[in-house]
Amino acid sequence: MSVRIAPSLLSADFAHLAREVADVQRAGADLLHLDIMDGCFVPNLTFGPPVVQRLAACCELPLDAHLMVCDPDALVPGLAAAGVQRVAVHVEACRHLHRSLEGIRKRGMAAGVAINPATALHALDDALPFADFVLVMSVNPGFGGQSFIPESVGKVRRLRELCAGREIDITVDGGVGPDNAALLAAAGATTLVAGSAVFGADDRALAVTELRRCATGGRPR
Ligand code: DX5
Ligand code: ZN
Repeated sequence: MSVRIAPSLLSADFAHLAREVADVQRAGADLLHLDIMDGCFVPNLTFGPPVVQRLAACCELPLDAHLMVCDPDALVPGLAAAGVQRVAVHVEACRHLHRSLEGIRKRGMAAGVAINPATALHALDDALPFADFVLVMSVNPGFGGQSFIPESVGKVRRLRELCAGREIDITVDGGVGPDNAALLAAAGATTLVAGSAVFGADDRALAVTELRRCATGGRPR
C-alpha cells in the first residue's frame, strides 16, 4: 500500500489559513488534516464547522477531520455539510461508538476511530468492522510539536496484524517526521499526519517529498 501525507493545519499560521492551505496543496500533500479541539476533551481550543466550511471553499485536497471533543456527534452534520471526506472520533470520547461511526458513514463520509497512546488496542476490537480507518495517536492529543512516543511503532504493527485481510487505512498522528516515517510505514501505517514537520519547514514541498521518500523507502508512489 502507498503512504499518504496529511499536513496538520494546527501548525499553520492561523492568521493566513488560505495561503497556508494553498502552500501545502502546491507542496503535493494528499490530505489536509484538521484538528478540532473543544477545550474539554483536550486542554486546547481550535476551530469548528464554520471555519472548516470556509477552508473547504479554498482547498482542493480531501479534508480529514480529527475530533478531539467531548461531544463529537454534535459536529458531524456541520462537517458533512462543509464537504469533509473523513472524520475520526476518539474511542475515549464516545459513549456509543457504533452509533457515532454509523452517523459519520450515514452522511457519506469515511469513519475513523482515534486511539490515545495509553489506550489498549483491544478497545477497538468490536469497533473495527464499523470503521474505515484507525488514527493511532503517537503523542497525547491537544498540541502540535510534541515528541513522538516510540512505542507507537509496535502498536501500529499489532494493529496491522489485527486487521489482516482488510485494506483498512492506519493513520499515525503526532511527532511524525523523517526520523520515524520509514519505521511507521514498515509497521503498516498508510497515512502519516505531520504538523510541525511540514508547516514548520521553510520549504513545505521539500518536507512533503522527504516524508514520502522516507515512507516509501525511496520508491516512487
Ligand atoms: C495533536 C494533533 C496533531 C498535531 C500533530 O493533538 O492531533 O494532528 O497537529 O502535530 P505534530 O506533527 O507537530 O506533532
Ligand atoms: Zn490530529
